Amino acid sequence: MQINELTQKIIAEKPRTILVLGACDTGKTTFTLDLAKRLVQHSPTAILDSDTGQSHIGLPSTIAYANLTPGTTDYQSLTANAPAFIGDVTPTGHLLQFCAALHNCLRSAREHAHTVLIDTPGYISDSTARALWHETYRLIAPDLIIALQKENELEHILASLPKNARITRIIAPSHIPAKTPAARRAYRSNLFRRYFNNARTWTVDLKTTPYQSRSNLTPQNIANRVLALRNYNSHDTALAIAKEYDPRTRQLTILSPATPCSDIAALIFGDFTLEPAAIP
Ligand SMILES: Nc1ncnc2c1ncn2[C@@H]1O[C@H](COP(=O)(O)OP(=O)(O)O)[C@@H](O)[C@H]1O
Ligand SMILES: [Mg+2]
Repeated sequence: MQINELTQKIIAEKPRTILVLGACDTGKTTFTLDLAKRLVQHSPTAILDSDTGQSHIGLPSTIAYANLTPGTTDYQSLTANAPAFIGDVTPTGHLLQFCAALHNCLRSAREHAHTVLIDTPGYISDSTARALWHETYRLIAPDLIIALQKENELEHILASLPKNARITRIIAPSHIPAKTPAARRAYRSNLFRRYFNNARTWTVDLKTTPYQSRSNLTPQNIANRVLALRNYNSHDTALAIAKEYDPRTRQLTILSPATPCSDIAALIFGDFTLEPAAIP
């Protein structure tokens, strides 16, 4: 199906949640914006960016959504809302956090938008990816899945979904060059570097601030770990880089562009550190 025909079908049938699936470099992000720009001419439309590795809305390691306006031209002009941190830049190894973050962010997006288009990471190849998308389908109950594929690489996932799942298959452009892992890392580094550019150092008292971490905090394993500042609405409103931790006083020094405050519902420690190139 072509995008013109698909747009007419969506305008007629009014699906509210649309999940866009495809491998890396199949044009998902470009296609999602193109479709959203057409749909917003008819009803309030949002894009939810769940590609935590190559984020176009919000920061890597987070899921966020943005409302479009009829004048939206590109991703740079969009404002990220309801950011949700998954603890790493890839969902692999953080599937629980990924599903929870997607669900949380989608709930917020649905409050404002009639149609929410969900852009996804290109993680589709193995049985774990199949489980991820099966459970995601169950959790968010999309009204439509748009499957962008070059050949039949998504069929093993689509075959695992309930028979009544509504799926539209689109042939992906064949001439998109694959982004190298180095280019992907550089893209993330650049986003993080810009985000932390005006960050300042401040201290959080872990005696009084709840936190979530997979491993016990030690001065050794804390350095340069990325963490999120979660508010009482369960949004991860800011990211920070952990610098130092004193287990005796339980004082944690962080670098964050957020305004220092004691009103943090919880700190969520991620399981990755920033490379020096990403720290200003
Ligand atoms: N239909 C298309 N024709 C030509 N180039 C495209 C098309 N769709 C996407 N691209 C280009 O391919 C690259 C990857 O596209 P992107 O939408 O980011 O893919 P994905 O989100 O699946 O990784 C981008 O540089 C984009 O400009
Ligand atoms: Mg993409």
